[in-house]
Amino acid sequence: MSKLKMPNSLPEPNINENAKIVLQRRYQRKDTTGVVYETPKELFWRVASSIAEEERKYGESVYTPSKLAREFYDLMTSYRFLPNSPTLMNAGTGLGQLAACFVLPVEDSIEGIFDAVKHAAMIHKSGGGTGFSFSRLRAKESVVGSTGGVASGPLSFLKIFNCATEQIKQGGTRRGANMGILRVDHPDIMDFIKAKERDGELNNFNLSIGLTEQFMQAVEKKEDYDLIAPNTHEVVGQLNAREVFNILVNKAWESGDPGIVFLDRINRDNPTPAQGEIESTNPCGEQPLLPYEACNLGSINLGACFAKGKNGHDSEIDWEELRRIIHLSVRFLDNVIDASIYPLDKITETVERNRKIGLGVMGWADLLFQLNIPYNSQTAIDLGERVMKFMRDEARAASKQLAAERGPFPAYAESIFGETNLGPYRNATTTTIAPTGTLSIIAGCSSGVEPLFALSFVRNVMDDDKLLESNPFFEKALREADAYSTKLMEEIAKVGTIRKMDHLPESLRSVFVTAMDIQPIWHLKMQAAFQKYTDNAVSKTVNLPNEATREEIWDIYWKAYEYGCKGVTVYRDGSKMSQVLCTGDDK
Ligand code: CDP
Repeated sequence: MSKLKMPNSLPEPNINENAKIVLQRRYQRKDTTGVVYETPKELFWRVASSIAEEERKYGESVYTPSKLAREFYDLMTSYRFLPNSPTLMNAGTGLGQLAACFVLPVEDSIEGIFDAVKHAAMIHKSGGGTGFSFSRLRAKESVVGSTGGVASGPLSFLKIFNCATEQIKQGGTRRGANMGILRVDHPDIMDFIKAKERDGELNNFNLSIGLTEQFMQAVEKKEDYDLIAPNTHEVVGQLNAREVFNILVNKAWESGDPGIVFLDRINRDNPTPAQGEIESTNPCGEQPLLPYEACNLGSINLGACFAKGKNGHDSEIDWEELRRIIHLSVRFLDNVIDASIYPLDKITETVERNRKIGLGVMGWADLLFQLNIPYNSQTAIDLGERVMKFMRDEARAASKQLAAERGPFPAYAESIFGETNLGPYRNATTTTIAPTGTLSIIAGCSSGVEPLFALSFVRNVMDDDKLLESNPFFEKALREADAYSTKLMEEIAKVGTIRKMDHLPESLRSVFVTAMDIQPIWHLKMQAAFQKYTDNAVSKTVNLPNEATREEIWDIYWKAYEYGCKGVTVYRDGSKMSQVLCTGDDK
């Protein structure tokens, strides 16, 4: 618990109706009988003060802990910035596991595999999600030296990981998510591609195929490529790259799974190649990590950085305010590393060596609404690039400032920055764009860099109460255009979109677009725009209408490669009964 006393003058936070429910269910402290004994104000102070306390370690700081605690409190309760869920849940509680993202190695031995299952269970219990590469496991039916028997292959073990996850809820609240990755040149790749064929199978896993540039070139040239046994490194077969890619696309068309990650692209951005290759990402794909590495994330609400134009000037982004928020948020996230107690010593060592943090954004669609810019426009893409470049430059500047106060990350000299004049930085990476599934509910904003799903919808709340909810910026614009009525909102809630409502002004219909109104290519362009200036990766789903064709998905997967994305996930409306959600919902 923090030694900092809550000041009497601390203002009460404003909590929206949905946040009230989410905070109470999952974030506010409860006693052993499940009775909530912490108020939202106490929650935010617990987090702010315990993270600010870390400042004491560093004599050089420009802040006193109490001043910083107040700044952090204001930052969070104005919903300008929120740290990832485990930090909100666990900071200052003595539980102390504050990171959302982990990657564990899966070694090719029974001990290695079950170590990974155990470690994953420990991580899930503490609120984190885990990513694994199964690429090191020998193929099914290859020989097991010790017994003379045959191996059962990555897929059978994957089921054990899935089953173990089923039994463990994160901190007693939600179930942890997993990512499973297999390299495209693994001999069991075809089984893996089809692993989620049946709905509900491996429901605690997102699956992605690790594609290499060599493979993509073979797809282009319609050539065969080699399958390599991971245990012997021998070529054990060949497949036609284009056929494999076709099947991959078919499966993604059927169910959204598997996604793809571009391993070479990810490793080109690996800031510490001397420590080995990156084989996997966290569950939602936005955070590539080394084995035994963890990362804490935090997101800035861009919707709160809008500056209304005065004296005839156009409305703009409040860049100065954004800069202030970025610097404070980077300090926050760097402190989180020190405040965190990781479930394994090996993780502590890796995290403290590289000190990765992932600052990202949410509320992007809200900002575009306020600026009157359609999501599906070149203006939005250009602005996305500009915002993210600013984010990355300022986050790095803040990390540099911290390095001056606290020293660079210990592996700095051997990192890619060691040889350039870019550093020294306090953190090997500073930027990541998370899905913000729950954070966006708490902040009452649109999630990540996604467009809205619906402008207005009916939310089923407990005991079948129905609540009509709509985006506040949309509602405001309707009122300003004198078009608002409850009847209209109910109409919109039936379909989510106003695209076909000819009686509404075109100026509204072009700006207030939803995920389904947008051509898939704009989803991808937006992802690429943000990826350009993101150290880690971008969580984004390319949403497609039900009638989208396999060719369209082929095109998206291919363009994701051409545009330099680190991976891509598609979802065709109605193609899956239940989804592996990375929202705050229980799975
Ligand atoms: O909004 P919140 O901080 O709760 O999380 P998010 O941004 O939606 O997801 C960030 C990361 O948290 C994911 O990529 C996972 O690593 C982890 N996560 C998880 O393990 N289990 C969940 N049910 C949701 C998220």
